[in-house]
Amino acid sequence: MSKRKMQPADLPAGECVSQLQEMLRQRLCHQQLPDRPEGVEAQHKHLLELLKRTSVHGESNSVLIVGPRGAGKTMLLKCVLRDLQEEKEAEKNLLQVHLNGLLQTDDRIALKEITRQLHLENVVGDKVFGSFAENLTFLLEALKKGDRSSSRPVLFVLDEFDLFAAHKNQTLLYNLLDVSQSAQAPIAVVGMTCRLDVLELLEKRVKSRFSHRQIHLLSNPTFAEYLGRVRTRLGLPDHFPDSRFAADWNASVETLCEDKSVEEVLRRHFHSSKDFRSLHMLLMLCLSRVSVAKPWIRPADLLEASRLSFADGEANMLHGLSILELCLIIAMKHLNDVYEGEPFNLQMVHNEFKKFLQRKSNSMYNFDQPVILKAFEHLQQLEMIRPVDSSSAKTQREFQLMRLMLDHSQIMEALQKYPQCPTEVKQWAMSAFG
Ligand SMILES: Nc1ncnc2c1ncn2[C@@H]1O[C@H](COP(=O)(O)OP(=O)(O)OP(=O)(O)O)[C@@H](O)[C@H]1O
Ligand SMILES: [Mg+2]
Repeated sequence: MSKRKMQPADLPAGECVSQLQEMLRQRLCHQQLPDRPEGVEAQHKHLLELLKRTSVHGESNSVLIVGPRGAGKTMLLKCVLRDLQEEKEAEKNLLQVHLNGLLQTDDRIALKEITRQLHLENVVGDKVFGSFAENLTFLLEALKKGDRSSSRPVLFVLDEFDLFAAHKNQTLLYNLLDVSQSAQAPIAVVGMTCRLDVLELLEKRVKSRFSHRQIHLLSNPTFAEYLGRVRTRLGLPDHFPDSRFAADWNASVETLCEDKSVEEVLRRHFHSSKDFRSLHMLLMLCLSRVSVAKPWIRPADLLEASRLSFADGEANMLHGLSILELCLIIAMKHLNDVYEGEPFNLQMVHNEFKKFLQRKSNSMYNFDQPVILKAFEHLQQLEMIRPVDSSSAKTQREFQLMRLMLDHSQIMEALQKYPQCPTEVKQWAMSAFG
């Protein structure tokens, strides 16, 4: 790949690369909406129909969009609202209020925000209301058209819906859902949450006013589909200003995706999380390594990006350990290899460590038993090791069965980066069985 010759381009190479960077960045980190949201066609149709009924026919409704973080709840709603704009009648009719449980932390703040978003501050003025319901009714009344025969439909979006359930008496939820059930005014309440058990959080009187419509975003793509996403996320469209550059780039993406080591890395990501957000993160890291001198992504870039995104707190914590603690971890790793993940106790770890010490010139790591016990306790405090059974607290410390909470790749990677790690310790870690 490195010998690949750039064909003469219509645009200067620098210009092409910056255009590429800009286009892909827009796609990967600026929340650009996809033309057609992948894999959620049915949900898209469902929500669009629902909101159309409110905006065009003035029907009230309520619905929950449920899915894990990064599953595309916000994206789905935004796509639907965009597509709703194309409906002539819906276009100007629908008013929108967007609330977020992380921002509107109580109902008073929420009500202020609703007033602000509906541009009714002047109408409300200094009026004092007896109750929340009275205030909300006033707001909805104020939206009635000139002849006062029909209200304008309002869409209430409640992001992080579950947090609203923690508000005092669930007043906001009760009142919104109550209006959505009565013929008072046409409103649609759309809640978004990652809690599957969200209905359990609702009080009975609130729950009974909810339509119990739920849209689930629990996509479970196959690896082939996931790989397809990588291709489409990185691919340049036909309308890229320099078609020759685009063709070259797309061919290089194709080669990248066929690489065996790339597949391995992507498989690891696939198994840890399948959502778009973490995929975008990974690809963004690769993209930042593209330059004029190297206008393509190498498998090594992806490997590095993956290493960065997997660099976790535990591995970083390993860097703060003393040499003795690190040696104990390595001894445990060997024990895990030998006994296939069976739990171990300090005595076994110490014996394993002694084997290492018996080799020539390693005697400088000779520590007394109490020092080793202390180090072992520290590792337990850091939760790098955990007792198998907490009820066995009465057993003598040295014989308490423990499990290592780190996996081998974490240990090996941390070891590579450990500041001035002695070579013999590294070699010991890498040797097959102690
Ligand atoms: N089906 C899809 N097609 C294309 N892009 C998607 C799809 N689903 C999600 N994305 C992208 O993944 C990213 C995360 O999506 P989004 O912000 O909608 O998640 P969310 O479910 O709202 O997460 P949170 O619970 O954190 O609010 C966005 O950049 C979005 O564009
Ligand atoms: Mg969201």
